[in-house]
Amino acid sequence: MLLLLHFVILIDVKDFALTEGSTIMPLCQKGYLPCGNLTKCLPRAFHCDGVNDCGNNADEENCGDTSGWATIYGTVHGNANNVALTQECFLNKYPQRCNCKENELECVNIGLKSVPKISSNLTVLSLKKNRIHSLPDKVFSKYTGLTHLFLQYNCIRQISRKAFFGLHNLQILYLSHNCITTLRPGVFKDLHQLIWLILDDNPITRISQRMFLGLKSLFFLSMVNNYIEVLPKQMCAQMPQLSWMDFEGNGIKSLTNSTFLTCNSLTVLFLPRNQIDFIPEKTISSLKNLGELNLSNNMIMELPHHIFKDLKLLQKLNLSSNPLLYLHKNQFDGLKQLQSLDLDKIEIPNISTQMFQPLKNLSYIYFKNFRYCSYAPHVRICMPLTDGISSFEDLLANNILRVFVWVIAFITCFGNLFVIGMRSFIKAENATHAMSIKVLCCADCLMGVYLFFIGVFDIKYRGQYQKYALLWMESLQCRLMGFLAMLSTEVSVLLLTYLTLEKFLVVVFPFSNIRPGKRQTFVILLGIWIVGFLIAVIPFWNKDYFGNFYGKNGVCFPLYYDQTEDIGSKGYSLGIFLGVNLLAFLIIVFAYITMFCSIKKTALQTSEVRNHIGREVAVANRFFFIVFSDAICWIPVFVVKLLSLFQLEIPGTITSWIVIFFLPVNSALNPILYTLTTSFFKDKLKQLLHKHRRKNIFKTKNKSLSASIVWSDDSSSFKLGVLNKITLGDSTVKPIS
Ligand SMILES: *[C@@H]1O[C@H](CO)[C@@H](O)[C@H](O)[C@H]1NC(C)=O
Ligand SMILES: *[C@@H]1O[C@H](CO)[C@@H](O)[C@H](O)[C@H]1NC(C)=O
Ligand SMILES: *[C@@H]1O[C@H](CO)[C@@H](O)[C@H](O)[C@H]1NC(C)=O
Ligand SMILES: *[C@@H]1O[C@H](CO)[C@@H](O)[C@H](O)[C@H]1NC(C)=O
Ligand SMILES: *[C@@H]1O[C@H](CO)[C@@H](O)[C@H](O)[C@H]1NC(C)=O
Ligand SMILES: *[C@@H]1O[C@H](CO)[C@@H](O)[C@H](O)[C@H]1NC(C)=O
Ligand SMILES: *[C@@H]1O[C@H](CO)[C@@H](O)[C@H](O)[C@H]1NC(C)=O
Repeated sequence: MLLLLHFVILIDVKDFALTEGSTIMPLCQKGYLPCGNLTKCLPRAFHCDGVNDCGNNADEENCGDTSGWATIYGTVHGNANNVALTQECFLNKYPQRCNCKENELECVNIGLKSVPKISSNLTVLSLKKNRIHSLPDKVFSKYTGLTHLFLQYNCIRQISRKAFFGLHNLQILYLSHNCITTLRPGVFKDLHQLIWLILDDNPITRISQRMFLGLKSLFFLSMVNNYIEVLPKQMCAQMPQLSWMDFEGNGIKSLTNSTFLTCNSLTVLFLPRNQIDFIPEKTISSLKNLGELNLSNNMIMELPHHIFKDLKLLQKLNLSSNPLLYLHKNQFDGLKQLQSLDLDKIEIPNISTQMFQPLKNLSYIYFKNFRYCSYAPHVRICMPLTDGISSFEDLLANNILRVFVWVIAFITCFGNLFVIGMRSFIKAENATHAMSIKVLCCADCLMGVYLFFIGVFDIKYRGQYQKYALLWMESLQCRLMGFLAMLSTEVSVLLLTYLTLEKFLVVVFPFSNIRPGKRQTFVILLGIWIVGFLIAVIPFWNKDYFGNFYGKNGVCFPLYYDQTEDIGSKGYSLGIFLGVNLLAFLIIVFAYITMFCSIKKTALQTSEVRNHIGREVAVANRFFFIVFSDAICWIPVFVVKLLSLFQLEIPGTITSWIVIFFLPVNSALNPILYTLTTSFFKDKLKQLLHKHRRKNIFKTKNKSLSASIVWSDDSSSFKLGVLNKITLGDSTVKPIS
């Protein structure tokens, strides 16, 4: 109540050319903040982080976006020097259960059914939360001195045309939370002094120009949560002083050229949560004094070119949650005073830096996408702060990711290099198989190289990523890295499928002699590399069709992005990840399950062999881990892609964790699974070590090895020889039939 009075006092402060602080701000780089009157500049991340980084607390001030009406009208929360009211009552006559203070009367929640009889020199009357359902003619006519009238929560249905007759001094009228459906023309005719009219939460469906007849001084009109679908032809025809209009939560469908034609004083216009689908260009351009415009949660799909052109004093604009299809290049030209722009939940497919350049005073901008922040580098605060991968300052926003990108790059690179070296050093008899494994390691190694580069560029851009984000994503390096990652994953996937199928043929059809020779293997491997290369290189082919396929996020991996992406790249990445890769994954799973069943059956038939159970467990374990690692790697990718098919929002955080943790899983584990854990390799390694030390041990080891060969020579268990082949990786055993 006192707050309200105080606010009314502040109404006169209409001149809102903002008084900037008298301190001269030091010039800081874009994306940096000045520290009050110090010459220090800090990166934007230090702003409002709860730590006094400046030393003078300047970075912890102005943490809220307070632009808009609060600054336009001064602050609502000023320290009102209210004179303490005496408890004395100056009224002689009033209902017993009311509270009287001087000339003010409060009759709240006492079950009144009609307006009671009160002494005539009443100035403030509150009849909140009673059961008054109608206001007959001249019901307040006695109280000509009344300035404030509160009638909320009464379920008033009927208001006679002369209900407010004679209230020539009324300044504030609250009629919110009632059951009013219509207001007759001229009902407020006598309220020449009325400043505030609150009609929130009523089922009013229609309003007309003549309804506001006589409201010459009206400053504040609020009709939140009504059912109004059409605004009068000229909203302000009867209310030339109207400065604040709030029609949030109505069903307003359209605005016309003339709706706000005479609203010369309008400074705040709230129209959120309506159904407005189009705003003609001239509608708001006449509002020369407009300081805040809220059009959020409407159905606007298109904004005319010059709709905001003349709003020279606009400080705050909220267009969030509108199905806007695009923005014009010069959409915001002319908004010289704009400080806060909310474009949350809006896709801006053809966003450009030009769009925001004229907004010199802009301090706050809100986007749907972190990526868009790079198009407004001069704006102090841009939301959201991160896309889960990159923040304004860093390519990798998360510390865990930042460390693990190195760890995983190291494991992947050196694991694979080690295996390549080992395989070259230890000669396996099955050279073609060894060659396949080495080629697989090469492909996996590329993934490590990719991660290394991500780590390097993260360090390079540490603390100043926002300056380079755009350049980086569009750079050749980023594209090449994306290419590298894509090449690595695709070649790896195709090779794993090939190796699996090769094994599958040997195990399930042991008698057919369709094992590829050295030459065929070479051709197949070459073919796989060519296919992988083509898959990765095709997006470079047509820029119009694929856009910047790889550079859509900081890690340059085309896993998922929003709906703004080009149809070509969307379809392509869907085809690769949900087509080729899913098929390959299913083949691998199917092949291993079939192989396992086949081996188990043979093993049971040859139960005379004692230690087959142990062997079987080993095979099962290895098969399980091969399939499992493949699943860890690919299932998250498939899930993300499927979800994106259903237009579900996927946080960038998930993309980055998949790219840095899950996708390299296969590359990091492949050397272990296909070489280091194979018993052949273990044997060989032990052999080597022991040879080095003691020759005796070598002899016994050799004996056991030959024993194993003798054991699997048993002609009745041909398949066990094959089993050996599987468990050993490379078999030295030649099946004898
Ligand atoms: C900055 O302003 C504060 C008071 O607001 C003052 O005490 C301080 O000396 C000023 N510092 C400089 C460097 O001007
Ligand atoms: C009107 O108010 C004055 C005080 O302002 C009081 O003294 C007087 O009794 C009131 N008159 C009536 C008719 O209630
Ligand atoms: C708006 O005004 C322009 C001319 O100023 C006129 O051409 C156009 O038809 C008007 N549109 C509507 C919907 O009244
Ligand atoms: C804009 O309207 C929404 C309601 O849809 C409200 O939440 C928001 O606070 C408004 N903006 C301002 C600055 O009042
Ligand atoms: C804009 O409106 C939305 C609600 O529609 C609200 O959540 C948001 O806070 C508003 N933006 C600003 C800057 O006030
Ligand atoms: C975005 O596209 C629309 C329609 O194609 C066009 O009018 C507008 O100028 C474009 N904006 C930018 C910044 O390119
Ligand atoms: C807005 O920018 C103008 C110059 O373009 C400047 O004179 C004015 O002080 C700025 N206003 C605010 C509130 O920053």
